Formats: sequence, structure tokens, C-alpha cells
Amino acid sequence: MKIVKKILVALLIILIAMQFYRPEKNLAEDGHTAAFLAETNPPQEVRALIKAACYDCHSNHTNYPWYNNIAPLSYWMAAHVADGKEELNYSEWATYSKKKKDHKLEEIGEMLEKGYMPLKEYKWLHEEARLTDVQRDQVMEWAKRARTLYDIAPEPQ
Ligand code: HEC
Repeated sequence: MKIVKKILVALLIILIAMQFYRPEKNLAEDGHTAAFLAETNPPQEVRALIKAACYDCHSNHTNYPWYNNIAPLSYWMAAHVADGKEELNYSEWATYSKKKKDHKLEEIGEMLEKGYMPLKEYKWLHEEARLTDVQRDQVMEWAKRARTLYDIAPEPQ
């Protein structure tokens, strides 16, 4: 029993110490996705959907919930944002090659079709990110259409 108490006290101290380290936040100014939007031209509904469901992990700006102030949740979220941005960052669209843009749009379609994105733990906490089938189809349709901009993998109709 004594040892259990000691372990609990040690864990509590670690948890408190963790609060002093805050991962750097992902906070860009407005307009960080302007180049992406101008180029791929999503319809209004799709703009709103990707903003609500994808930007937090795939752009240079995250809307942080209050619990992001609590470690280790803050570490966990920072890791998701870093991993997500590495795979796909709408704020850095202009730096991607044509081939990469085409490929990312293809992957967006695949992720949505399989229901892998947004991540499920994100959907538990973000109601606005739970896309209906119709909304998902709208985003997939836009992604497919936008691929034709890059003229790389024309799919037979
Ligand atoms: C909570 C954070 C989070 C949200 C929200 C999120 N993603 Fe992701 N996404 C990730 C992470 C982390 C990865 C990289 C690791 C992985 O594939 O699981 C990723 C990977 C991807 C990839 C690359 C997959 C691959 O295999 O290369 C695509 C495309 C993608 N996400 C699209 C989306 C779209 C579209 C949305 C919105 C509908 C979205 N994501 C919402 C975190 C997120």
C-alpha cells in the first residue's frame, strides 16, 4: 500500500511538472489558405466543411479547445497537428509541385471514402467534423474535379 501511495505521489508530481512545458502553438494569420482556395476553388459548402473538419490538423492554424491547456493533452494534440501538417498542409499548397497537389487531392478522396479522416478521436470531440454522407460526397466531388487542374492522371469516365 505504501508503495502504491509513493507511486501516485510521484505521478502527480510528474503531471504537475508537465504543465510547465507548453508545446508551441500553430497559429497563422487569417488568409493562410487563400492560395489553396483560389487555386482549387471549392464551392462555399465545401470550403466550410474542410475548414471545420480538416484545418485544425492540416493547416498553419489550429482552433484550440480549452483542454489544450492541459498536459499531456497539449502534447498529444501538438503531435497530431505536426503529423497531419507533414502529410498535408493547405496553408502551404503553393509550395507543392503539380504532381504532389494531384496526389494529395487523390488521397483526400481516399481518406474520405474509407472514413479515415477526420481522425475518429477528433470526431468524438468535434461535432462539426462529423460529415454526413452528402457532405462527404461534396468534398470528394470537389477533390476529384480539382485534380483535373493538374492534368496528370485523367481518369476515364
Ligand atoms: C485531429 C487531426 C486531424 C484532422 C482533424 C484531420 N486529419 Fe488528416 N491526418 C492527420 C494525421 C495525424 C495524419 C498522418 C497520419 C495518418 O495518416 O494517420 C493525417 C493524414 C492525412 C492524409 C494523408 C494520408 C496518407 O496516407 O498519406 C490526408 C489526405 C488527410 N489526412 C486528409 C484529411 C482530410 C480531408 C481531413 C478533413 C476531412 C482531415 N485529414 C482531418 C490528422 C488529422
